[in-house]
Amino acid sequence: MLTYSALRQEDPDVFEALDGERRRQKDGVELIASENYVSPAVLEALGTPFTNKYSEGFPGKRYYGGQEFTDRVESLAIERAKALFRCDHANVQPLSGAPANVAVYFAWLEPGDCVMGMDLTHGGHLTHGSPVTYMTKLFRFVRYKMKDVETGAIDYDEMRAVAKQERPKIILAGFSAYPRELDYAAMKSIADEVGAITMADMAHIAGLIAAGVLRNPFDDGFHIMTTTTHKTLRGPRGGMILSRGKVSNPLKAPEKTVENLPTLIDRSVFPGFQGGPHMNNIAAIAVALGEVMKPEYRVYAQQVVTNAKHMARCLMERGCKLVTNGTDNHLMVMDCVKSFELSGKEVEHLFDRIGITASKSTIPDDTNPPYSPSGLRLGTPAITTRGMKEPEMETLTGFMLRAVDKRGDDASLERTHQEVKEFCRQFPVPGIAVSDEI
Ligand SMILES: Cc1ncc(COP(=O)(O)O)c(C=O)c1O
Repeated sequence: MLTYSALRQEDPDVFEALDGERRRQKDGVELIASENYVSPAVLEALGTPFTNKYSEGFPGKRYYGGQEFTDRVESLAIERAKALFRCDHANVQPLSGAPANVAVYFAWLEPGDCVMGMDLTHGGHLTHGSPVTYMTKLFRFVRYKMKDVETGAIDYDEMRAVAKQERPKIILAGFSAYPRELDYAAMKSIADEVGAITMADMAHIAGLIAAGVLRNPFDDGFHIMTTTTHKTLRGPRGGMILSRGKVSNPLKAPEKTVENLPTLIDRSVFPGFQGGPHMNNIAAIAVALGEVMKPEYRVYAQQVVTNAKHMARCLMERGCKLVTNGTDNHLMVMDCVKSFELSGKEVEHLFDRIGITASKSTIPDDTNPPYSPSGLRLGTPAITTRGMKEPEMETLTGFMLRAVDKRGDDASLERTHQEVKEFCRQFPVPGIAVSDEI
């Protein structure tokens, strides 16, 4: 365990904040679908002298000297990513998921070009064309949706019709709050018909794909995948862009062809969009990807999905309404208005009171505003890392429904909070001591 002795001595204010966060994480239940806990080895890699190094460029082609070891660690991350996702190229430098998506847009699009992505209230991410992002000033975004919110089925006929009319240059699969599998082959065939490339933003499900628990879009001919490294992949904060095509010298501008996507992407990340990569994060990404390659990770990824399906079943059996009536991945979206006649924000707050953290979320075609939407998103990656299994999904369902039942009863909520804390002690967070003191 890290003891943070230098930090404690040098900066007690920051140490105090860290200590509070450490306790919050170990004493509470994390159901935010985009969060996870990194291993002690990943944590160690983050706090290394790699943070001191400037490494603009790519392994073997840097703008600064002294790159023997940064080249080694970035190459390890690249090779591991390529092996895990079965692709030709990996850029591991995007500072996070949003910059990875933006770098792809700039690699392939001209201003005014069109991208077709999932409707945001149906599960798409902000970077897939929310009007609050700068990307919408430059590019045009059109939408596809579910045709049936009871099953999650996407309307591929409508997608084809809209694609033929709007002629997108990128058809984007991917989501932050869609609990079902997409039909990548159907999307690829629509893209082929209209001359678009295919991009999968698998930020949420990358770990499940790497472990073979969910389908790999490259197997259906997708051109590009983007991901964050800090969700199901259990790495540090970061992003990756994976692609198929010919890898050539990123210092020379290539023609804009599908074959040249790897080089177009590298040049878009650097020097097009970012400066020096964060080498300590890249070292930690290499470590996390090494962990994903181990058989234990496959067991973990399978359990993430088993837990989500079980929690979904428990919630629905006890009267909760879930968007699409279940899940195929790690995500659940609870319709709080139909379930409890409360907003997602109110239920998020009630769960906070008992030490369970989740995130409010829109439901498809939500009539409530994004800052007070009708839904709540839940996910199982973090609790599965702590070793929770099916019986714990039942216990957690009980805690959550009790919080809703006992709203307004402060003493009862506080008692449940203490119970949640006690429950958490049985499931240590990797890298965080169970005891209050460090
Ligand atoms: C599908 C998807 N893409 C991109 C992102 C953005 O990632 P980041 O917050 O690391 O920029 C997210 C984050 O939640 C996401 O869910």
